[in-house]
Amino acid sequence: MEKTHLSASSEKSAVSSLVKMVKRCVPDSVKLASKARLRPGGRIGLNLPDRIFLEQVSIPWFAEQEETRSVLDVGTDWYTWKYEVLFPGMEYQSIDFDAAKAKFASPNHVVGSILELDQYFEENRFDLIICNGVFGWGVDDCADIETAVSQFFRVLRPGGYLVIGWNDNDDHRPEGFEKTDVKGFERFVLPPIESDHFNSAGSNRHQFRFYRSVKSASVSSQHETIL
Ligand SMILES: C[S@@+](CC[C@H](N)C(=O)[O-])C[C@H]1O[C@@H](n2cnc3c(N)ncnc32)[C@H](O)[C@@H]1O
Repeated sequence: MEKTHLSASSEKSAVSSLVKMVKRCVPDSVKLASKARLRPGGRIGLNLPDRIFLEQVSIPWFAEQEETRSVLDVGTDWYTWKYEVLFPGMEYQSIDFDAAKAKFASPNHVVGSILELDQYFEENRFDLIICNGVFGWGVDDCADIETAVSQFFRVLRPGGYLVIGWNDNDDHRPEGFEKTDVKGFERFVLPPIESDHFNSAGSNRHQFRFYRSVKSASVSSQHETIL
C-alpha cells in the first residue's frame, strides 16, 4: 500500500514539474491572450486582478475629479487599445517609444521616450500621468528611472498625480525603482482604497503606487535646482 501511495505521489509531483516546465515555455503573449475579455466600449481587456483594479477603481476615481482633465498614459499594447474611453471628458495622450505599438494607440499618440518628455510636451501640461508596466519593461535602472521621474515632474502641473505600476516578480522587477528617490513627489492616498499603494493578488505580483507632485505653482523649469 505504502509503495503505491509513494508512487502516486511521485507521479503527481512529476506531472506538476512537467506542467510548470511547459508553462515556462509558453510565451508571455500567449499567456496574456488567454486572459482577453470583451469590455464595455468595444475594448478587449485583460482579465487580471491588477488590470481590473486599474480600470475599474483607480482610473474611474481620477476621471471623476474636476481637477483631472488631461492624462498622459505611458506604454501601449493590444489590451490598452481604446483606453481613451476610460477617461470620459478628459484629454487623453499616449506615448510609447516602440513605433510598432502605435497601431494600438489613441488618436493623440507620440512615438517617443519618457526619458525625453520635454521634447514633446510643455511644462505643467498634464494633470495625471499613468506609468504602468514600463519600469521593468525598458526603463529599469536607477539612472533611467530618476530621469523618467524628473521628466514626469516637469510635464505634470503643480499637484498633478502620478500612478506607477510594476511587476514585483523575477522577470520584470525594476531593481532600480526601490532605490530611486521619487524626487518632487509625495505619496498620495487614493480615496477609494484609503491607501497610497495597491498590491494585486495576481500571480504577476503587480503593484501600484500613487503620488502627487509637490511642485509649487511658482516653480518653473528651474525646478531641479529648487528641489
Ligand atoms: C508591458 S507594456 C505596458 C503597456 C501599458 N502601459 C500597460 O498598462 O500595461 C510596456 C511598454 O512600455 C514601452 N516603453 C518601454 N520603455 C519606454 C520608454 N523609455 N518610453 C516610452 N515607452 C517605453 C514599451 O515599448 C512597451 O510598449
